[in-house]
Amino acid sequence: MIRILLPAAALLLAACSDNDSSSNAPTASAEPAERSGALLYRQYCVTCHGSGAAGAPRVGKENRLYWSHEVEEEGFETLVQEAIHGINAMPPRGNCYDCSDQEIRNAVIYMLQLSAAK
Ligand code: HEC
Repeated sequence: MIRILLPAAALLLAACSDNDSSSNAPTASAEPAERSGALLYRQYCVTCHGSGAAGAPRVGKENRLYWSHEVEEEGFETLVQEAIHGINAMPPRGNCYDCSDQEIRNAVIYMLQLSAAK
């Protein structure tokens, strides 16, 4: 009886420690890499913010005063929240449904950089 149980217990222990070591190993299913603001802007936001379509405030240095004013009056965080949740004709996440909050933030930062807003 004891002869049979002991090897079984050893096997169980071995199995456990195997599991432990594999959970420390890097997993293949890591988070998808965060996309840059420049990429997302060109893919989603420029449609409206490049041309002023749908009444969107245009991005660019000629609109520097507008964006600087927005940052000053509303604050950067508010602009990010508006971009995430949408406001009036601005669709939530600028229609980038799989964009993370951080990715939307990147896109807003990029828009402000393009506009040379402070
Ligand atoms: C379908 C057109 C459209 C798309 C696409 C779009 N926007 Fe907008 N956006 C608007 C409009 C219109 C407004 C103005 C909303 C208002 O204040 O009435 C706006 C406003 C904003 C504002 C706030 C400006 C302010 O005055 O407070 C930010 C920030 C913004 N958009 C970011 C983005 C980002 C980032 C993307 C891309 C991920 C994007 N938008 C894509 C139409 C669009």
